Amino acid sequence: MKFFLIGAACLIVTISGVLYIKMRPLEFERNYLSSQIEPEKILIREKSDEIGFFFGASAGEPTHVDNNLYAKVFNSTTPTNALKLGSVIQDLNTMTYDFSESDAYVDIAREAGLRVRGHALVWGKLSDQYKSPDLQVWLDSLPKDANRSERLSNLVSSHIKIMLDRYRGKISQWDVINEPLALFGDGELEENVFLRHLGESYISNAFALAHELDPSLRLFINEQLNNYTGDRAQAFYALVEKLVSEGVPIHGVGLQHHMLFFVESPEATQKYMQKFSKLGLQVEITELDARLRLFKDAGDPYIAQGQYYRDIVDACLKVSACTGVTLWGYNDEDVWHKDMAWLFPEPNEPYLFDEQNRAKPGLSLINARLKL
Ligand code: XIL
Repeated sequence: MKFFLIGAACLIVTISGVLYIKMRPLEFERNYLSSQIEPEKILIREKSDEIGFFFGASAGEPTHVDNNLYAKVFNSTTPTNALKLGSVIQDLNTMTYDFSESDAYVDIAREAGLRVRGHALVWGKLSDQYKSPDLQVWLDSLPKDANRSERLSNLVSSHIKIMLDRYRGKISQWDVINEPLALFGDGELEENVFLRHLGESYISNAFALAHELDPSLRLFINEQLNNYTGDRAQAFYALVEKLVSEGVPIHGVGLQHHMLFFVESPEATQKYMQKFSKLGLQVEITELDARLRLFKDAGDPYIAQGQYYRDIVDACLKVSACTGVTLWGYNDEDVWHKDMAWLFPEPNEPYLFDEQNRAKPGLSLINARLKL
């Protein structure tokens, strides 16, 4: 008994020690503060426009566009949430929408000359995980004799039509399907509300309808992959290849590229993007962020993070089919990882500007890459 208690105590101390080392907040020196880039030297947007490359940031509201620095850096923006079902729909039964927020976003962005990426039309996790809205709960609330598959299918079709009509001529690239794969699987489709009720064809049907409604649109499938060599990455490629071979009107692949626990190499990223280019598809990095903590062993983590972003931009520029890189945020004041602080201990600080809007090293490094 005594040995058992000593053993258990040792185990607890060891686990607590490992957890402390892994999770304790860290702070790194901000050497970049002493060498801020002069705004007039920032030519990222100008150069991007020149070569037909889209460099973007997502935002809750596009208020940053008034900012002088923003205007020199980005020529594209993705509404973080404003175009998602839960943000626009008011009543699922009557299909009543409120577009005040999404319209304002799109108008402000377009006035500032930014391209707007449409994100996202059909996203299982938005319902099942974020419950925004929970479509299963809605289906369960329907009368017993209602045909649930038909109701869900009608909802999806109406939603696609309503969104594409509303933003016709304003948004030319849409994530039609977002995150079709199970997050922690080996590449199987996620068992989400759409797969359960509509089967695998929910994917091809959404593309076919969007294309029929507006053939000028560039239609994307968007996915988060933690690396580009494992089973999930191969399965995602196989899924896209199958859609293409079946003649599904899909034009592009969005790689979210959230680097949460591991940093995938720019080389592997480039190779993977190249595969889609061989299928005749367009590719974009759509939600780039890499937690600062992942660079903790570098001499200067801020520089290492900036070099990583520069190298991802470089990887994209080397693949002719890669048309853009979008960061999943603008400055470190508004960081989505904070919602899951227990999983993502500080520092996350993933963006190109710090919480006080000062440029971080990635900005000068990307600037230098684009000037070549
Ligand atoms: C996230 C937003 O950043 C959060 O504000 C929101 O609560 C949930 O969605 N993959 C995606 C994005 O495709 O839409 C997600 O954005 C992040 C993961």
